[in-house]
Amino acid sequence: MNLPGLIDVHTHLRVPGGEHKEDFATGTAAALAGGITMVLGMPNTSPPLSTPEALEAARAQAQADARCDVGLFAGASPEQIAYLPELARHAIALKIYLNDTFGPLRVEDVPTLRACFQTWPRHKMIAMHAEKQSVAVGIGLAAAYDRPVHFCHISRREEIELIADAKMRGLPVTCEVTPHHLFLTEADAVRLGPLGDMRPVLGTADDVAALWERLNDTIDCIATDHAPHTLAEKHSANAPPGVPGLETSLALMLTAVTQNRLTLARLIELMHTNPRRIYNLPEQPDTQVEVEMMPTAINQEIMHSKCGWTPFAGMTVNGRVRRVALRGAVVYEDGEVLAAPGSGRVISMSDE
Ligand code: DOR
Ligand code: ZN
Ligand code: ZN
Repeated sequence: MNLPGLIDVHTHLRVPGGEHKEDFATGTAAALAGGITMVLGMPNTSPPLSTPEALEAARAQAQADARCDVGLFAGASPEQIAYLPELARHAIALKIYLNDTFGPLRVEDVPTLRACFQTWPRHKMIAMHAEKQSVAVGIGLAAAYDRPVHFCHISRREEIELIADAKMRGLPVTCEVTPHHLFLTEADAVRLGPLGDMRPVLGTADDVAALWERLNDTIDCIATDHAPHTLAEKHSANAPPGVPGLETSLALMLTAVTQNRLTLARLIELMHTNPRRIYNLPEQPDTQVEVEMMPTAINQEIMHSKCGWTPFAGMTVNGRVRRVALRGAVVYEDGEVLAAPGSGRVISMSDE
């Protein structure tokens, strides 16, 4: 069975400054192994992608190393707000972190938020890491400035219901959920210890039920929030939050299809059509993902991400990626990544 090339709108590729966790070559290999042919890279790198210099250097490195197509977010930072117009020229979208998570990027003041909404080009998305009442802040800004806002990794009943209310009133908001927030709960966080710790944290059984209830109407995309950290870091005293997801996302969602929790057509909307529409991404011609619906144990030994672990290790899923073609070339087949570093494209959008 063939699917279109999937798009992950939320990937941490760790360049610059975190190349021991992941780099463009390994992160995009992991993407292809998971049936993903385009990723949008997050800006909470070290230094963050909040200056034109950092963004341009990361784009050049991506062009040298990426095996699938990559777009990069710019990160909003109160000290670097003057760079927004220049950042907008080459970033796919702007990311604003309203809550605590990995890395130094944070926006906690209204003047910076106003500057972002007044300056960032209207045809490019503003995405937010917003939890609990911060979701209301984002909805308020979407209404005040009458422009689209995309909410990353929504994980709680109160958040998805607030977004459903906003959508009902016609506000231009969209949202993504991660497979780990759909398939794991706070009970798994206890079992997994640091390997089950991420931001947002895993929810209650009721939060997870709310996400499944809203998968067919309110939720727009499945995104991985692939956030690799080394095992040594995860087992250290100040363990960073985050879990990898590029190589397990499609298999988990195919499993949900076999359990009649969503249709295959809906999976394609959530993992291809809507991501492309929301971020105004280019088409990838002659690009397909061949999948087989068969019981498969998730094996972290054969993964392509540098981090080498997954919170889903040992779980049996009902689907696997057999072959991926990108622009007519076979880039992945039966466990092997065939695309060379640099064969992916760095995508940007015109100024309209
Ligand atoms: O768990 C997380 N890890 N959540 C985020 O928002 C950032 C990410 C990371 O970069 O490691
Ligand atoms: Zn986040
Ligand atoms: Zn993230």
